[in-house]
Amino acid sequence: MLPSVIVGLMLFSSTCGENPAVQVILTDKGLQYGKHVGAGWIQDRLEHVSLPDINGKILGGIHYTLTGVTITKCDFPEPSIEFRQDVTGLKLSTSGLSVALTGEWMTHFGIIHDGGTFDMAAFNMDVTSVVELGKDPDGHLSVTSVHCDARVGNVDVRFHGGASWIFQPFVEHFKGRIRGEIEATICPNVEESIVNLEYHLQAMKLSFNLDEKFTFDVPLTGLPIINSSSMNLGLKGEFYDTKAHTEPPFEAQPFTVPEQPAYMLSVGLSEFTMNSASYVFYSAGLLQVVIIDSMIPPYLHMHLNTSSMGPYIPQLPKMFPGLLMTLQIYAREVPMFSFQPGVVKLGLQGAVKAFAIQPNGTQTPLFKLNVDPKLSGKVWIADGRLKGSMALDNFTLTLEASEVGTFQTDSLERATKAGMMFGLVKLNTELGKGLVLPRMRHAELVDTVLGMEEGFIAISSDAQVFLTDRGFN
Ligand SMILES: *[C@@H]1O[C@H](CO)[C@@H](O)[C@H](O)[C@H]1NC(C)=O
Ligand SMILES: *[C@@H]1O[C@H](CO)[C@@H](O)[C@H](O)[C@H]1NC(C)=O
Ligand SMILES: *[C@@H]1O[C@H](CO)[C@@H](O)[C@H](O)[C@H]1NC(C)=O
Ligand SMILES: *[C@@H]1O[C@H](CO)[C@@H](O)[C@H](O)[C@H]1NC(C)=O
Repeated sequence: MLPSVIVGLMLFSSTCGENPAVQVILTDKGLQYGKHVGAGWIQDRLEHVSLPDINGKILGGIHYTLTGVTITKCDFPEPSIEFRQDVTGLKLSTSGLSVALTGEWMTHFGIIHDGGTFDMAAFNMDVTSVVELGKDPDGHLSVTSVHCDARVGNVDVRFHGGASWIFQPFVEHFKGRIRGEIEATICPNVEESIVNLEYHLQAMKLSFNLDEKFTFDVPLTGLPIINSSSMNLGLKGEFYDTKAHTEPPFEAQPFTVPEQPAYMLSVGLSEFTMNSASYVFYSAGLLQVVIIDSMIPPYLHMHLNTSSMGPYIPQLPKMFPGLLMTLQIYAREVPMFSFQPGVVKLGLQGAVKAFAIQPNGTQTPLFKLNVDPKLSGKVWIADGRLKGSMALDNFTLTLEASEVGTFQTDSLERATKAGMMFGLVKLNTELGKGLVLPRMRHAELVDTVLGMEEGFIAISSDAQVFLTDRGFN
């Protein structure tokens, strides 16, 4: 009984109780911009589209084929698009669309073959499509058509060549039917493109390998949340050790990204994402380093040996004269980031184990110190670059164990703190130069702002998409 309850609870917590660590919010401004870019792209592509052959039978047994049908001109008024809360989706409509087509016609009636060319125009077409957005079991965004409606205002067809003069007069008579046939082809085509889009969505990667050891998982954690002003996608946003794939002993907390309708999109990044990375690196044993004398930069003018430790640990050079030392530095606990309004706090709990290297190579343990720096950082965006600075808020150094007898740590603490401050000055020089914001091949973020909030970072931005005539490829 109990085991099944536990399994049930675990399943429940991993499917229902999961908060997204990353939220991507598309505002109406972003939706309208996307539509504008997409409409221009479709208009360009429509003018080079070839349609499939149309076959049929008219006038009691005359087979006809319309072939090589291409769009010669397309008047594609800007469609309208809106978020629809009632269907958790989008409504897209175009009205007043007109298309001019050209092609060849062929008829055969028994052994009599005939043929020529034709021009056709369809005017004032209205197309409305409503799609629902959802989440598939793997966490992909899914899209399904829930409604489609197509109306053609009017059509006109001119046949040229062959015996067209005979049947041209009948065209007037058949306009209604031609209109109906065009109308009937539109929604299946729209639905086919939605199925095609769904296929592409399902093929999207939900897990990115950072290298062979670590992955970053971004499946949807729940259904998209849509109202008339925005769409919010909640993503897992968690780092994993690819092999072990263990969950950290802490969970993503819920957070609300303030709505920023003046920007096209906003991204909220929870401190959980950073802490999951921290947990993964810590668990993989990466948060440790061994320092040897030759690694100390020459400009520090110091050596890692027992005599240079004399001012801090007077007995050390007497017990182990003239020996080089090594320091094993590691994190005692998972370093945890805490995002607060305006600042990121980072508490490190580190330890330093010191060894003397005997002439025969044996490493003799000397002492172990606990080193607990508390850091705070700021991040901001300026001149299109992500910049930052770090400060040391607190620093404590305590003697945890000693094989060389006890010693006062005050002066060692002061010296180490001074060393850290010096390191931070160098680091801040680099952070101040900043990192160029990531730029994709076809899109760039513009007017990006970043704010630190309680538990998360909120980034809001406009985007600029550059489409070549080859589209997104
Ligand atoms: C839509 O939802 C967001 C939060 O997800 C909220 O801030 C906004 O006010 C809502 N807009 C409307 C029109 O209800
Ligand atoms: C130990 O370090 C001091 C100064 O840091 C240096 O003068 C001395 O030569 C070093 N001794 C050895 C054995 O490396
Ligand atoms: C290496 O030297 C140290 C100190 O002289 C000694 O205690 C230790 O036993 C030696 N180890 C080996 C493997 O010779
Ligand atoms: C630094 O941390 C120690 C231990 O947590 C605390 O006792 C001390 O008051 C802190 N100092 C400052 C300046 O915050």
